[in-house]
Amino acid sequence: MDTTTYRAYTNIALIKYWGKRNKELFLPVTSSLSLTLDQFYTETTLEWNSQSNEDTFTLDGQIQDINAIEKVSRFINMFRDLSGIHRPVHVNSTNHVPTAAGLASSASAFAALASACNDLFETNLSNKELSTYARRGSGSATRSLFGGFTVWHKGIGNESDSSFAEMIDEADWDIGMLVVMINKEQKKISSRVGMEHTIETSPFYKLWPETVAEDLEAIIPAIENRDFPTIGQIAEHNAMKMHATIIAADPSMTYWEPESLTAMNIVRELREAGIPCYFTMDAGPNVKVLCRLSQAEEIKKAFEKHFSSDRLVITGPGKAPHKIS
Ligand code: ADP
Ligand code: DP6
Ligand code: CO
Repeated sequence: MDTTTYRAYTNIALIKYWGKRNKELFLPVTSSLSLTLDQFYTETTLEWNSQSNEDTFTLDGQIQDINAIEKVSRFINMFRDLSGIHRPVHVNSTNHVPTAAGLASSASAFAALASACNDLFETNLSNKELSTYARRGSGSATRSLFGGFTVWHKGIGNESDSSFAEMIDEADWDIGMLVVMINKEQKKISSRVGMEHTIETSPFYKLWPETVAEDLEAIIPAIENRDFPTIGQIAEHNAMKMHATIIAADPSMTYWEPESLTAMNIVRELREAGIPCYFTMDAGPNVKVLCRLSQAEEIKKAFEKHFSSDRLVITGPGKAPHKIS
């Protein structure tokens, strides 16, 4: 085989990953849980490089610089070592999600790249095994090897193989998200830098691992029971606790923008009006509203009073990565 193309979907954490216990291996401080989304994805083509002795990388039609190439090369080296095939490749990737805006482009990106590497280098890894490789491109990518609701287990000690993802529910029921695009620009502080700064300086971070463990223990049975309000309440609270630890870093920082607060307030008003919906936010200003998919249009209409409809995207649950060609 000379070329392969994979599509992988982004995922949004309901119980967040925020902090590494081992930076080199991307081993997280806590386990986390997410919903994979079907409207946001990355497509990555991998081919043997006949033009150059080095790896080359194009993202959204733009030839990438040495720093960006270095990141994907280091990732691909894991597959070169596994397979014993030490050939340079060309990576051509397209994001159907804003890059570095807090909409999890790094998750779909490294899940797509890991899946394409597995095919081109014929390493034959299962999705569970592949999730431990995707993890070393970006932590959140671990969970994009699966669809539906997926848990990323934090694992044991420094054992890379023990920190993998597993789908716990296909989410083939009435659940989805409305994504409110507040700002699609690249963030100033990457997730990686933001979480390191929080761990190192936030006095609240010591409370984070325990509260995440409690949230996970409570949300898993709620997902099994399809208890939507409980899932939403736990997810919203978990996101707020993560942002509270970030705000308490020194120097203080936040990913929020004024319109993020506007969106949170609309969610609260909708709830008061009897429409169940809950918000979550990641390392960026964009707000994701967890809702019944059957009520997403109605919720979108309420948001249209403040946000133009091109900034509002309804998405259902996504699936595992798949081969396009
Ligand atoms: P996000 O919120 O989008 O996940 P991050 O700061 O976590 O933001 O990650 C953004 C980084 O992920 C980019 O700077 C780039 O290094 C990497 N990335 C994004 N898309 C791709 C892609 N398609 N292929 C390879 N790397 C990518
Ligand atoms: C807030 O996975 O983007 O979205 O592992 O350093 O690449 P790196 O960071 P990344 O962080 C995601 C943080 C989050 C929460 C989550 O997705 O669980
Ligand atoms: Co990311």
